Amino acid sequence: MKDVFKAVRISDSVYWVGAIDWAIRDFHGYATTRGTTYNAYIVYADKITLIDTVKKPFMEEFLSRIRSVVEPEKIDYIISNHAELDHSGALPEIIKQVKPEKVFASNTGAEILGQHFHWDVDVERVKTGDTIDLGNMHLQILETRMLHWPESMFSYLVEEKILFSQDAFGMHLATGKRFTDEVEPGIVRYESAKYFANILMPYSRLITRLIDQVRKMNLDIRITAHTHGPIWRGDFGDIITWYSEWAQQKFHPKAVLVYDTMWGSTARMADAVADGITETGVEAKQMPLSGCHRSDVATQILEAEALVVGSPTLNNMLFPTVADVMSYLKGLKPRGLVAGAFSSYGWSGESLKQITEYFEAMKLEIAGEVGTKYVPNEAALLECSKLGKIIGKKVLEGVDEKV
Ligand code: FEO
Repeated sequence: MKDVFKAVRISDSVYWVGAIDWAIRDFHGYATTRGTTYNAYIVYADKITLIDTVKKPFMEEFLSRIRSVVEPEKIDYIISNHAELDHSGALPEIIKQVKPEKVFASNTGAEILGQHFHWDVDVERVKTGDTIDLGNMHLQILETRMLHWPESMFSYLVEEKILFSQDAFGMHLATGKRFTDEVEPGIVRYESAKYFANILMPYSRLITRLIDQVRKMNLDIRITAHTHGPIWRGDFGDIITWYSEWAQQKFHPKAVLVYDTMWGSTARMADAVADGITETGVEAKQMPLSGCHRSDVATQILEAEALVVGSPTLNNMLFPTVADVMSYLKGLKPRGLVAGAFSSYGWSGESLKQITEYFEAMKLEIAGEVGTKYVPNEAALLECSKLGKIIGKKVLEGVDEKV
């Protein structure tokens, strides 16, 4: 496979040697509708260094790209910035082939790698402030605990001003282009937002702190070499501004309506709620779960102020698609949303209570709920519209606090 896949030079001494996963459509519950890449890098320093690896099935493509730059056995160091298996899956095999002088990871990284691979590799543990000496170049270490795993860390190549940021600032996007400025900007923004919403939203407060920390370090960053999708070069201010706004939940006058329906009644109620919201000037983004994936719902919520949920009752429970999305959203911990619920049911009507329990657990501000038996009449639809207006007004009241 030596001559099949080629490395891509991204700076004087750094090569991308990752793999492109064009076919993946489900990434542990996240709909990767545009595929993804697993980015790994060779730093061609005095000590030739490999930064991260790829998902195990992509070992051949990965090795082929490495061989186009250097014989694998000449690699001196391997650095694991993130132990999740999409970046460490090929690590045991590559260590076997390379026999590196040293493997580096954070303290927790070394433990997690041991728990993944049950191996006897002696991992050298590094921490924030440490510098790995590559001879003519140097890598500075910055631990980024819980972004998004407890062991995660960045490494910064001082001489070429490259930040290896593992998952942070990445996106699930399979493309033959290696830089974001070669891809349609709207796609880059949407996939970056989707990545933030589905992977990083629970750690928003840590993101704000990290951005402050990186700013204080005054690092001159020329390339941000993350681990998924095209990478950032030159002025990558856009992604820092976006991350900062998403983490701080910049105000957007939008409500997301998530619902499913059995015989069309809950869907009619959704239309009426949406109409009430729209009357106040707030955007009502309807997301019927028959056609919307949980990870796209999360993406819309990233730039919204209200979450309105509708579900029929099926066998005393939430409709399965609604239960799925509520469980998922609860884990992502969106903050500061106005919430409302609506439901058409036949006899017992437990779904409203179950939606409200989710809202309470998520600490959302509950604006109200509307329930009706079977097909909603005009009075029930007017109640829905009224609920929509209340939600819209509450959203607008939040402007002063959030702008
Ligand atoms: Fe791309 Fe957290 O792994």
